[in-house]
Amino acid sequence: MKIGELIGIGNTAKVYRWGKTEVIKLFYDQSSAVNEGNNAELINNLKLRTPKYSGLVEHEGKMGIVYERIDGPTMLWHIEPSERSLSYNAKIMANLQCEIHNVENKILPNLKSEITNKVNNSHEISNDEKQIIIDMLKSLPDGNSLCHYDFHPDNIIISPNGPIIIDWLNLLVGSHEADITRTSMMIQSHSLPPNAPNWLIHRDLREFFNKEYLTEYMKLTDTNEGFLERWMIPTLAARIDEMQGEYRQEIKDKLHIRLRK
Ligand SMILES: Nc1ncnc2c1ncn2[C@@H]1O[C@H](COP(=O)(O)OP(=O)(O)O)[C@@H](O)[C@H]1O
Ligand SMILES: [Mg+2]
Repeated sequence: MKIGELIGIGNTAKVYRWGKTEVIKLFYDQSSAVNEGNNAELINNLKLRTPKYSGLVEHEGKMGIVYERIDGPTMLWHIEPSERSLSYNAKIMANLQCEIHNVENKILPNLKSEITNKVNNSHEISNDEKQIIIDMLKSLPDGNSLCHYDFHPDNIIISPNGPIIIDWLNLLVGSHEADITRTSMMIQSHSLPPNAPNWLIHRDLREFFNKEYLTEYMKLTDTNEGFLERWMIPTLAARIDEMQGEYRQEIKDKLHIRLRK
């Protein structure tokens, strides 16, 4: 199969056209290819709006994974900086995430153990803080929902056939509350991708998007936002090592404010 033009650059990989109808995702870190490949295989067998997964391949000495190509911009680029567009897309996002959480799966819960490992392995958190965070995590519900755990507008492609969810590297099974807290935390952070669109740069628009997203999710599930603060400490703690520089500092500051309370 022939590799074609570069069509996407993410934090973990570059994505190229692959033959006529597919893409190849080539990871910076080789072990991620196997991890996302395993997750994609699981997802392929569930009833979700995702690209069809075709398998692992080696390209010029690097492992990559092959997916069906989905045409269209990601939601990040599709959103216009108007209240109407922000609200409409935030609601789509909440509905899609709800679909993921409600899909039947037989995978054993691993979310709390994976977060515990991340916290324990972090060099940015003191041993005393680790103990507090892990004790808090223990008191939170286990759950058995499928959680994308990297669910944000750049991981949804708005195709002619509707929204399609990509980027399954972080898949976990556990409480849907953890997944919602993670998404909300990412929307609220100040981190920006290169050449970020207007709505992401303007704080008030970004906050409005978050509010609309959460309101829709709470309405769909008939719950309230009480769980967000309960999950925020472990969620921030698990995020620290994924970020660098000023954005890592932002996450650390948010964590420390909460730990001091
Ligand atoms: N199946 C696909 N079809 C078309 N474009 C894709 C597909 N998968 C990924 N892309 C593009 O590549 C970008 C990076 O892919 P992604 O899987 O999100 O990688 P990362 O884990 O690095 O964020 C996406 O934002 C999107 O623009
Ligand atoms: Mg991505």
